[in-house]
Amino acid sequence: MPDSYSKEPIVLREKLARFTEHWAPRTIAAMNDHEFKVVKLQGEFTWHDHQETDETFLVLDGEMEIQMRDRTVTLREGEMFVIPKGVEHCPRATLECHVLVIEREGTVNTGDPGFKRETPGDFWVYAHD
Ligand code: NI
Repeated sequence: MPDSYSKEPIVLREKLARFTEHWAPRTIAAMNDHEFKVVKLQGEFTWHDHQETDETFLVLDGEMEIQMRDRTVTLREGEMFVIPKGVEHCPRATLECHVLVIEREGTVNTGDPGFKRETPGDFWVYAHD
């Protein structure tokens, strides 16, 4: 069994308690070729798209908006949204918001490998950390 499988339940609030930076996703699990990442958002990100993967945001705590060119959606705790691949988007949150992001592994969060706003090495927060 690969190391990426946790033998214990993965407690999202415990993962979130281990870091404070905004816009710095932590990978907490993987399934097939997709990763689950927890991230703290506050302020506005940058406009980008992902040509190779859809991207799912599931709000765990707080409220956020996903701006798209033709509309903006508001997500509150317990709500999720799938951004289709290729659709430009720009997340923002007035107050700190905690989110679970699900996307294909290797996805750069700005959509542009030349402009990463991601934790170096995209490091994992394992259940046993
Ligand atoms: Ni994105």
